[in-house]
Amino acid sequence: MRHVTVPVKAAYTTLFCTGQLPERYQGSGASSFYLPGRFSPVPESLERKMIVLGGSASTGLAGKVAKTLNAKHGELEIKRFPDGEKYVRILDDVKDQEVVAVQSLYRNPDEYIMELLLLVDALRDLGASSITGVVPYLAYARQDARFKPGEAVSSLTIAKLFETVGLTSFMTVDTHLHRLEDVSKVFHIPAHNLSAMPLLGKYAQENLNPKKPVVVGPDEEAEPWAAMVAKELDAEHTVFHKKRVSSTKVEIDTGDVEFEGRDVVFADDIISTGGTIAESARACTKKGAKRIFALCTHPVLAEGALERMKNAGVRSVIGTDTIPSNVSKVTVAPVIAEGIRKTNRN
Ligand code: R5P
Repeated sequence: MRHVTVPVKAAYTTLFCTGQLPERYQGSGASSFYLPGRFSPVPESLERKMIVLGGSASTGLAGKVAKTLNAKHGELEIKRFPDGEKYVRILDDVKDQEVVAVQSLYRNPDEYIMELLLLVDALRDLGASSITGVVPYLAYARQDARFKPGEAVSSLTIAKLFETVGLTSFMTVDTHLHRLEDVSKVFHIPAHNLSAMPLLGKYAQENLNPKKPVVVGPDEEAEPWAAMVAKELDAEHTVFHKKRVSSTKVEIDTGDVEFEGRDVVFADDIISTGGTIAESARACTKKGAKRIFALCTHPVLAEGALERMKNAGVRSVIGTDTIPSNVSKVTVAPVIAEGIRKTNRN
């Protein structure tokens, strides 16, 4: 029986919390829990000191975060030299200021990483009192182990780079660290993994109005996300068992949940080729499901992904602005703002 009746498993907590901090940061004020929308506002005086800067990947999102926090949306000058090098200049006085640097690492991750490194190093040189790096879509997270001899363990390399240039804390959103489990195990500075799933669930409830819904995580690792969405929809949830046959083909076992006449809401961290959702959708249709929706935090959406899912019967795909796209209907700005508020309170 694969129907999950327990709403929250241990892994669910890791999506919101820092886990155990390295010893040198314990008692440093790093916080544990980030449940969106459950904290009272930070005193205005604290927010006024803060400057939110967005790299070229996340200017719009940084503006929304600044607005939500009632902080200053600072200005950067970013340009490219003829040889491809990046130039970064901070146009605000950041001395003794708390600074948040937002940069999501989608589509051109290497370019955006370099920008963030230049920015953070300059902030440190210029005397910022703290520098929080917010990387909503954390590229390189999946290479978190040496699968073949000689491979670079990229997620650790990225963390080392960010720490070395001067980040004092780090935040990301629904990062799936398969083997390392939690970002606090990758970074030595306080690091937090926030979740967009409650907001996606709320969006689905208000805009899709699913009937007799069942929320589905397309594989076992998606269980915490399915649980969070199900909570918002006041629905049951389940997980499928996925076997990856190739990079574009997967086989799905739906277990023994009843789908006849019900709407299905998928919840996953990433939709890339759309193969996982498409195969899962076909399996649900075979079992009599009615409308099928797909929610994801990071709409990577490789070429043909939306069409693949549509052809498989998916009525709509909803993502967030960690990766700006046509399906990015939900902003993660409130989740990030709440994470920052919580950190500042400690
Ligand atoms: C895998 O573990 C992830 O949670 C997603 O299910 C996966 O990245 C989706 O990939 P695709 O859309 O290419 O099937």
